[in-house]
Amino acid sequence: MGKKVLIISSSLRVGSNSEILAREAEKGAVDAGHNVEFLRLKDKSVQFCRGCLACQKTQQCVISDDMNVMVDKVKNADVLIFATPIYYYEMSGLMKTFLDRCNPLFVSDYRFRDVYLITSSYDQADDACERAAHGLEGWIVCFEKSRLAGVLNGGGLGDEKEALSHQELLQKAYQLGKNI
Ligand SMILES: Cc1cc2nc3c(=O)[nH]c(=O)nc-3n(C[C@H](O)[C@H](O)[C@H](O)COP(=O)(O)O)c2cc1C
Repeated sequence: MGKKVLIISSSLRVGSNSEILAREAEKGAVDAGHNVEFLRLKDKSVQFCRGCLACQKTQQCVISDDMNVMVDKVKNADVLIFATPIYYYEMSGLMKTFLDRCNPLFVSDYRFRDVYLITSSYDQADDACERAAHGLEGWIVCFEKSRLAGVLNGGGLGDEKEALSHQELLQKAYQLGKNI
């Protein structure tokens, strides 16, 4: 039976490159027989964590926005794939906010184990996504049953939709999903 795969796309840009790559990963995962859900944070309301830590007692956030439903989806997924543009050599603020808002799960019996990261950046360098991966690892360290299972560095992508003409990256993204 296929795994439950949750893809979380955090770019707000129309024609987002990281989202294009995430969609390819989705195709690969679907072709491999997994049960895949794609979340576009662009369509959701995600407020900042207020740091009250009430969730550590109640497993419930005091803020009621779209995170409540999404946190539940994160909890029950086997595999998480985060997609983010590189902003100042880090993950997007929205992805970071999403990770912070997953704090109710810290005291929960979460199911996810393998976590993947897909990035897009203008910079082609191999290490353009390094700090974003490092940042995500900070979250993974706290969810100690999980691990960073793979990173796709989508380098050389400046303009919107540019990823569509990078066959090699599209192929790598597809394979990332296929090999889950
Ligand atoms: C605020 C901001 C900061 C950025 N910082 C970087 C950066 O540090 N390095 C880089 O290579 N590209 C940087 N970029 C370019 C984006 O990473 C690039 O356009 C990427 O393809 C955007 O992904 P998206 O289309 O999924 O939003 C930045 C773009 C913005 C808007």
